[in-house]
Amino acid sequence: MNASESTALLQVEDLHVSVGDREILSGINLTIREGETHVLLGPNGGGKTTLINTIVGLPGYLITTGRILFKGSDLAGLEIDERARLGIGVAFQRPPAVRGIRLRQLIEVTGNGGLDEAAMADIIGELSLEQMIDRDVNMGFSGGEMKRSEMAQLLAQAPDLTLFDEPESGVDLDNIAVVGGAMTRLLKAERAGRGTRAGLIVTHTGNILQYVNADIGHVLYDGKLACKGNPLDLISEIERHGYDKCVECAICQM
Ligand SMILES: Nc1ncnc2c1ncn2[C@@H]1O[C@H](COP(=O)(O)OP(=O)(O)OP(=O)(O)O)[C@@H](O)[C@H]1O
Ligand SMILES: [Mg+2]
Repeated sequence: MNASESTALLQVEDLHVSVGDREILSGINLTIREGETHVLLGPNGGGKTTLINTIVGLPGYLITTGRILFKGSDLAGLEIDERARLGIGVAFQRPPAVRGIRLRQLIEVTGNGGLDEAAMADIIGELSLEQMIDRDVNMGFSGGEMKRSEMAQLLAQAPDLTLFDEPESGVDLDNIAVVGGAMTRLLKAERAGRGTRAGLIVTHTGNILQYVNADIGHVLYDGKLACKGNPLDLISEIERHGYDKCVECAICQM
């Protein structure tokens, strides 16, 4: 099946988002279809996390214009947990610590009762969680341990669309392969009767793309998606010329 025939999972239409009294996103248009993995690039403070948090439904992000459709339905007014149940998952850039909830309990909850002992053991083994699984979520976890904890929750949740906000940030060279392996498992799994999953990966370095195949890259610049193209080509263009030049470059397919 080619991309034009596959179903759109996520449709972001002319999205304007304000935080406080400042407009951060100024007209984002983005469609992610079943089976596609997109990459989101852009300078610090450009609004990548704002876009992810708005899709997930975190409070504090005000949509002033535009809408977000997931599986054809408008997400407006839906709480975070309702969006998660619809099939949206997120690996946060800086996940919060949760005192009093052990990682094992959180993984059981995100698995929605569907995780047997063997599946839990698989997740613990795959992500080397032995030293963390019975500690409070993210309390004192190192940067890389937090990212593995995020992946574990997602493997249990098995979302149809996963948003990864800088998944390799702070992860050492051995563990980046582990995180990348978990991401590929999340993105490539077929779900009976529910099509193929999809994802959006925010990255600055592109290192994670050595372990995860991505189809389309975008550059978020000045509140808009300013450029679209092959993700690895975009990254090397940005390395050579910086973001200012990248958004007017020859490889842009917009
Ligand atoms: N609660 C807030 N109050 C004020 N400004 C905010 C708030 N949350 C985010 N911002 C601002 O919105 C802008 C976009 O931030 P965002 O975290 O989305 O950027 P980003 O593209 O993810 O950057 P990075 O690459 O550094 O992670 C920044 O200037 C940030 O300071
Ligand atoms: Mg960010």
